[in-house]
Amino acid sequence: MRDDYRSSRRALDATDLARVAVMAATIAVLGLPGSFSVLGAVPITAQSLGVMLAGAILGPRLGALSVVVLLALTATGLPLLAGGRGGLGVFVGPSAGYAIGWIAAAFVIGLIVHATPYKPTVWRTALGVVVGGILVDYAFGIPVQSLVTRLPLGETALTSLVFVPGDLVKAVLATLVVLGLVRAYPRAFRRTWQPRKRRGTDDQVQAGR
Ligand code: BTN
Repeated sequence: MRDDYRSSRRALDATDLARVAVMAATIAVLGLPGSFSVLGAVPITAQSLGVMLAGAILGPRLGALSVVVLLALTATGLPLLAGGRGGLGVFVGPSAGYAIGWIAAAFVIGLIVHATPYKPTVWRTALGVVVGGILVDYAFGIPVQSLVTRLPLGETALTSLVFVPGDLVKAVLATLVVLGLVRAYPRAFRRTWQPRKRRGTDDQVQAGR
């Protein structure tokens, strides 16, 4: 059975597991260029682009699962986070909230991008990746960073503004990739989209009215 709109409770099949594995691997690969820090201990990384793609392409449930797989493998010690980091220490460090927040981020992105039975549009995709990939992730990341570094919440939030330009660029890239996939390889989404309802009848449209 296909992963159709509103059929999210069906059991996962082998294709779903393969898609989850490929997406977890994609997020890991996006960590290969490394990371850098501008202010403080939370790195700037391309991996959040992978999280945006995970939610937007796989949908809420599988998108979140792909992040869980990545983080579980990281917890076992595999160096899958940007800069070759891994192990349990990552989950008690200043960036832990952002990393854990990726699960919720992918889920919310999937909910928004796949909120209707129609193909994702540019605006719905952009809204999904900005709300989920930026707002939701920061809502997890900033308080944890503040707790770990003992910097007041407000100051921590201010320092996190350094991520915003790069994350907006990632949101644009994710939107372009998703819309490109919708056109060129819709099977990546494993969904059946309904045709959009036209305004007026077909006859009116043909007559140019
Ligand atoms: C880790 O590698 O420990 C997690 C990194 C989290 C980095 C966050 S994600 C949102 C924001 N944008 C970035 O480029 N970096 C931070």
